[in-house]
Amino acid sequence: MSGSERLALLGGSPVINAPFADYKSMGEAEEAAVKRVVQSGCLSGFFGSPGPEFGGGPEVQAFEREWSERFGIKHTVSVNSATSGLYAACGAIGLSPGDEVIVPPWTMSATVAAPIFYGGIPVFADIEDETFCIDPGQVEKQVTDKTKAIICVNLFGHPAKLHELRALADRHGIYLIEDNAQSPLGSEDGKPTGTIGHIGIYSLNFHKHIHTGEGGMCVTDNDDLATRLKLIRNHGENCTDMLDGGPITNMVGMNLRMTEMSASVGRVQLSNADAHVEARERIAQRLTDGLQGLDGLSPPVTRDGCRHNFYVWMMKVDEAALGVSRALFSDALAAEGFPHATGYVAPLYRLPLFQKRIAIGRDAWPFTLTERTYDDIACPVTEDMHENRALLFEPCAYDLSDEDIDRMIKAVKKVHAGRDQLNARKSTGT
Ligand SMILES: Cc1ncc(COP(=O)(O)O)c(C=O)c1O
Repeated sequence: MSGSERLALLGGSPVINAPFADYKSMGEAEEAAVKRVVQSGCLSGFFGSPGPEFGGGPEVQAFEREWSERFGIKHTVSVNSATSGLYAACGAIGLSPGDEVIVPPWTMSATVAAPIFYGGIPVFADIEDETFCIDPGQVEKQVTDKTKAIICVNLFGHPAKLHELRALADRHGIYLIEDNAQSPLGSEDGKPTGTIGHIGIYSLNFHKHIHTGEGGMCVTDNDDLATRLKLIRNHGENCTDMLDGGPITNMVGMNLRMTEMSASVGRVQLSNADAHVEARERIAQRLTDGLQGLDGLSPPVTRDGCRHNFYVWMMKVDEAALGVSRALFSDALAAEGFPHATGYVAPLYRLPLFQKRIAIGRDAWPFTLTERTYDDIACPVTEDMHENRALLFEPCAYDLSDEDIDRMIKAVKKVHAGRDQLNARKSTGT
């Protein structure tokens, strides 16, 4: 939208008249770490065969040790992305063709695509209205004798109902995988997100709170799952002796390995994780506090006992109470310079992958293994949230002062106060 259009919406200058500064995530310590690795000449310490180099070089191994210590978990297996981690997790639990995996429809696509590589059938369960995470009550309804796992997502930085989901998984003898890509320092009842499921996956891609450009971490307290994750990461077909005679299912490995440079950057990022995450939590808290009590707008809430990391700050719009459409409100907010989006991703069961039931190969495997179709899925909370209610801002993208945040609050209040004017302009077409 151009500057002149902006002025036409509510008049006056935009409250925020210059773009916010990008968040600076890399500093001198990261630069020194990369230099140290380059000077060492060892950019990767992995070999894809049995022996001391099966687990990677010194930076990778130190990073994994430090990650385990930080999160109080027995094993950490680094990978080159959270997508790789989700794939490895599906393989490690022994996911087999035709097994069902219960997933939320409102997440990044990798959450629901990962099971497909092993022939898993994603089964969608709706989200909760308050936190946008998968609803345990809806999960329970989807459990069948084919269910092998639940993949929950700690969406936008807020924990799903993790202890409840773990109890549900244990009751049914299935696995809980936490997609913790967006919530590195979240917690529920004092326990870190990522460590409550059987396996937790973190993303270190460059949008995230802490990052290595691309990267991911898998954590587990289970020795066997840890070994299987490592085998899938690194040409496991050569090393199945490590399983001591256990089943070799899914042990055809890939190269999902992290480089020494990435690990060296990750170690620095991890040591400063508190500061990085707290910076985003501070922005979100000030924004939330400043926007209480406005009819039709509900800033995000944090469930009791939880820590929310605010990868995304998501406000809910109630068009009836607001008296103006979300689209018009959003246009006016954009004209005031407030960077945001409406909705998140369209419910994932709408993807051609599911609507056409075509995944891998000419025969559209693995959908040939199920009667399930995806055209009559009922996830009304997700639909309503995406189509009508969600309005999001990304605290991880910007470096904001208190004054910047106060201008964001002022922009919302200006648009909120100008709702009648917006409607009047809309009806006269001006
Ligand atoms: C919830 C979720 N899961 C998985 C991923 C995939 O992460 P990566 O880019 O590290 O593969 C993302 C990335 O944005 C994500 O947000």
